[in-house]
Amino acid sequence: MTANGKKDPLWFKDAIFYELSVRSFYDSNSDGIGDFPGLIQKLDYLEDLGVNALWLLPFYPSPLKDDGFDITEYCDIHPDYGTLKDFKLFLKEAHQRGIRVVTELILNHTSDQHPWFEKSRRARAGSRYKDYYVWSETTEKFKEARVIFSDEESSNWSWDNEAKAYYWHRFYRHQPELNFENPEVQHEIIKVVDFWLKLGVDGFRLSSVAFLFEKEGTSCENLPETHVFLKKLRAHIDKHYEDKILIAEANLWPEDAAAYFGKGEECHMSFNYPLMPRLFLGLRTEDTYPIIDIMEQTPGTAPNTQWALFLRNHDEIGLEMVTEEEKDYLFKAYANDPHTKHNLGIRRRLSPLLNNDRRKMELLYTILFSLPGTPVLYYGDEIGMGDNIYLGDRFGVRTPMQWNMSLNAGFSDANPQKLYLPIITDPVYRYESVNVATHEENPSSLVWWIKNVLAMRSRLNVFGRGDMKFIDSSNAKVLCFVRSYESQRIIVVANLSQFSQATTLNFSGFNDCDITEVFSQNKFKSVEGEEYAITIGPYGYFWFQADASEKKEEAIGSSELQLFKTEVSWEKVFANYHEVRVFERKILQPFMKKCRWFGGKAKIISKMGIHKVIPLRVEGDTYFLTVIEVHYVQRLPDLFPPTPFLIKWSTPRKV
Ligand code: NOJ
Ligand code: CA
Repeated sequence: MTANGKKDPLWFKDAIFYELSVRSFYDSNSDGIGDFPGLIQKLDYLEDLGVNALWLLPFYPSPLKDDGFDITEYCDIHPDYGTLKDFKLFLKEAHQRGIRVVTELILNHTSDQHPWFEKSRRARAGSRYKDYYVWSETTEKFKEARVIFSDEESSNWSWDNEAKAYYWHRFYRHQPELNFENPEVQHEIIKVVDFWLKLGVDGFRLSSVAFLFEKEGTSCENLPETHVFLKKLRAHIDKHYEDKILIAEANLWPEDAAAYFGKGEECHMSFNYPLMPRLFLGLRTEDTYPIIDIMEQTPGTAPNTQWALFLRNHDEIGLEMVTEEEKDYLFKAYANDPHTKHNLGIRRRLSPLLNNDRRKMELLYTILFSLPGTPVLYYGDEIGMGDNIYLGDRFGVRTPMQWNMSLNAGFSDANPQKLYLPIITDPVYRYESVNVATHEENPSSLVWWIKNVLAMRSRLNVFGRGDMKFIDSSNAKVLCFVRSYESQRIIVVANLSQFSQATTLNFSGFNDCDITEVFSQNKFKSVEGEEYAITIGPYGYFWFQADASEKKEEAIGSSELQLFKTEVSWEKVFANYHEVRVFERKILQPFMKKCRWFGGKAKIISKMGIHKVIPLRVEGDTYFLTVIEVHYVQRLPDLFPPTPFLIKWSTPRKV
């Protein structure tokens, strides 16, 4: 639903996603493993951060040999993380806060302990379960398919003694690939989809979706049959549900990754894998070319689709989609310790990749929040969490979330030796200083910065909805592009260099525009003629608002008081998350700015909301004791009024 409670099939375009693993987030029962009741307790944190969609890593029953990407039961919860009842409560609590929930649909393979595989390996040829998986008497088939987990596996075939045959797997040998040629397998997966969508889940990340089918003489990736299946899956979802989404995980070149959108009738979103390593490349080479080049190679997609943009996730930075030369450079620049290499990629969190340099983190996040697409944050990266490159596989980037400086970083009360993975104790990233509480106490921290940018971004729908055009910059170290949507135009300028730079930007499209820097609301010189000369500090960035002067207020938030129309009573308005958000944005902010007693006017406000409402009946009238919370850029929030007083909004009535 939108902020006003209406259905919105394009909600994902304005979303801010946050990827997390339940087991890493918060442990409510002191067994050393995060769980759903724990996650519920942390939803307020996520809401406050400005996140409105969660992507949950696998939480299904599993032997956890690939962190849950090895399922033994699709329609249940791993007992370590709670029960289905806990999950339903979590979903309800998330939805009440306006947070959508997307889960993993691991459709290409199961665990070798899944009952289907157990049956398949014992089944006789031609019987029902045999064809659930891909069997062969030789390893000579599908020779052109690459081995993805090349550190651990040397072949995509493994011998099964029970079946006396080889089975096909694209990842670990304990993850046999399902046979999508078999209509029954497709049907089983659709049943799984129905199970979770009926519970209220808002969509799925389609894990390893490129590997559903195999065909001799091909790479066995990305085959036309996969797209046929996706169209079928999408049609099923569109027919039976509203506002649900599919996100493709397809680490491919732009054309092939874009193919997962189809013509708007396959996936709603697809991760932009080619862009991600090029952001790191551009930063390290101090050259905008890799970013501009890949964006220009990226085809336009249907209006009902959107790229998912990310810097880091739970896997290594896969370098399959860069040239050999770029790969060598990235390994040299970002992975000089061999422990940081994994398969064909780099297993590191964002902060260690960027040498804990706050300026570089801000710069990459700003680019991420500005390019066309929906940003996806990885848990812990908002506090600059470190990693542990000695843990093996990709566990180094999956350690417990660091909440505070107490035992186990506030993640769990368990004996530290019992934790599913150890807390980060590296001298630079130790949890005593890198944790949510420490960040929240410091308005100059990265978390505060992210909150501010996200709050600002959510007021400018140009980023979620607008189109993009690069702007010529005379200096190749300075990236510049404009995002446009209806009357909003935001020019993004980003200096990829460690030194201050001067550049001249081609502002021919902005003649006579006023230029206002969005965060400070400072006016820069107006545009006269085509050339706009600026200087920009090391790793600096600007969001310039370039709307015609009379439109400017409209883009950032009108100061005109508007009429708030609702069909329900004030009590119901205040009890409904979506109504409250509309009320805050449309009525409260302009109202507060007009109040003489509001001392925050001069500061730069990033967000304003109702902190508490206490209804009081006085002489037959209903009053609401109301406390307003105001967030500023780089300052701690204030409560208004400092000593609560009564605001009589009006007597409850229908309008
Ligand atoms: C994709 C997931 O992102 C990765 O973590 C997993 O290992 C593979 N699929 C295999 O399931
Ligand atoms: Ca637990």
